[in-house]
Amino acid sequence: MGMDIDFTGKTVLITGAGRGLGRDMALQFADCGADVYLGNRKEEQGLAVVKEIEAMGRRAGFTRCDVSKEEDVAKLVADAVEFAGGTLDVIVNAAGVMSVEDLMYTSDPEIERVLDVNVVGPANMIKHGLKVLEDQRHGNMIIVSSIAARDGGDMLQIYNASKAAASSLVQSAAKMAAPYGVRVNGILPGIIRTAMWDQILDGMAHGWNPADTSEVTPEKRDELWEKSVQAMIPLGHAQTGKDIAYATVFMASDYASEITGECLAIDGGTTSGR
Ligand SMILES: NC(=O)c1ccc[n+]([C@@H]2O[C@H](COP(=O)([O-])OP(=O)(O)OC[C@H]3O[C@@H](n4cnc5c(N)ncnc54)[C@H](O)[C@@H]3O)[C@@H](O)[C@H]2O)c1
Repeated sequence: MGMDIDFTGKTVLITGAGRGLGRDMALQFADCGADVYLGNRKEEQGLAVVKEIEAMGRRAGFTRCDVSKEEDVAKLVADAVEFAGGTLDVIVNAAGVMSVEDLMYTSDPEIERVLDVNVVGPANMIKHGLKVLEDQRHGNMIIVSSIAARDGGDMLQIYNASKAAASSLVQSAAKMAAPYGVRVNGILPGIIRTAMWDQILDGMAHGWNPADTSEVTPEKRDELWEKSVQAMIPLGHAQTGKDIAYATVFMASDYASEITGECLAIDGGTTSGR
């Protein structure tokens, strides 16, 4: 028997869906038949994705939301439940931010900014979104962490720490939700050239020093990408947003009904064995 993944009649709520991986996931869920409710800090981006999904013949809705603000998350979840007609099937927290400042230069506000979005954000989604799934005794949640969670490397230290915390929340939330028949999993994207990576390439070119604000040319970024970044990946090439979206849709589907508390890396082997 084939393994078609069909989300017809289901509603998926996705944060950070205005661009990058969150947008790719939103479009993939819609392609599998889902209606999609989007939350994003930037309204213009979110509304543009709503139009794309509607053009695919699906229903879509949007609430402006900063995941680090609890009142925004409470409103987003309430709006999504109303849009869904009472029952949400999947919640994905893809919103996240990068920091490319070396820890030795980093200011407290920069550390707080990253922890607020990457740790308080998923915690807020658990408090409000997972609560809805538990009350329904139905559905599953996916938190987008990162392969950075697996490696406290010598760069991106605060980002790594924030994603390690996000992966830890996946494990705790999975145990909290299991008695309600609700699953919680993590997706660890590998290396995908979204806008976030342009920030990292600039950080690399600047030696991670925020005082260096010199312009980085597109050619320099491409050179760093080819020689320093792609060279780290055993399969020899970066992942695409589609690769991450496919894994996310699988984890949210009934084919993954026995998987919970798992953090799945889609990274061409970069963190294999960690
Ligand atoms: N691109 C990669 O290689 C990579 C690798 C590992 C993990 N990730 C993770 O994947 C997720 C998406 O990354 P991306 O590369 O698509 O980034 P991106 O910067 O292209 O997109 C992030 C999206 O999140 C939104 N956002 C940011 N802060 C928000 C907030 N406080 N509240 C609501 N929305 C907010 C932005 O407006 C944007 O639409 C992030 O959690 C990131 O850490 C990305």
